[in-house]
Amino acid sequence: MAVRIAPSILSADFAKLGEEIRAIDAAGADWIHVDVMDGHFVPNITIGPGVIKALRPHTAKPFDVHLMIAPVDPLLQAFADAGADCISVHPEAGSHLHRTLQTIKGLGKRAGVVLNPSTSVEAVDYVMDMIDLILVMSVNPGFGGQKFIESQLGKITELRKRITASGRAIDLEVDGGIDRETAPRAIAAGADALVAGTATFTGGPSQYAANIAALRGG
Ligand code: DX5
Ligand code: ZN
Repeated sequence: MAVRIAPSILSADFAKLGEEIRAIDAAGADWIHVDVMDGHFVPNITIGPGVIKALRPHTAKPFDVHLMIAPVDPLLQAFADAGADCISVHPEAGSHLHRTLQTIKGLGKRAGVVLNPSTSVEAVDYVMDMIDLILVMSVNPGFGGQKFIESQLGKITELRKRITASGRAIDLEVDGGIDRETAPRAIAAGADALVAGTATFTGGPSQYAANIAALRGG
């Protein structure tokens, strides 16, 4: 399958988010990656369901919502109602990952699990039958513009084997430090979706299409 590119709006101009989303949609984004941070689970604060709801009319592309909040369970409904298409959670953001994933599926949304750089692949072993996406963090969550952590390439390869063995159509997405140099390496390791904040938004709207094409290897 062709790799999907999910620009992270964390690197967009927050003063004109609607416009930015229309621009990355037109530039060829497959999904819109939305980083939600609470200043507690991660040391930064971004946006909540109200902003996501306001952005929803600006694109028909799927909203790939990455929740970096704890506890996560009380807010799942709000993000589903706001217009998330896929909701991804960290196992560390609640005590009962299986229950959290059941809730997301019950809300009619795609469910993802996010693995921090130090989190082992085994974290997904007993939820493979419920998930639609695995997101490998190739930086520590909290900020854009960080350096790709090399050790995550082996994790991607290991997860690709597990996904193949499961026989299920689970997307394998990578998030953090993705650029023209790391993108092909993540893809070679087995990724089929890439989040890119800095690499998408650098240079402003006139560059978005070329930036996205470069990540596809074009
Ligand atoms: C970090 C976020 C990422 C981040 C990626 O916590 O999950 O989505 O925006 O930014 P870049 O692509 O700049 O590394
Ligand atoms: Zn993210």
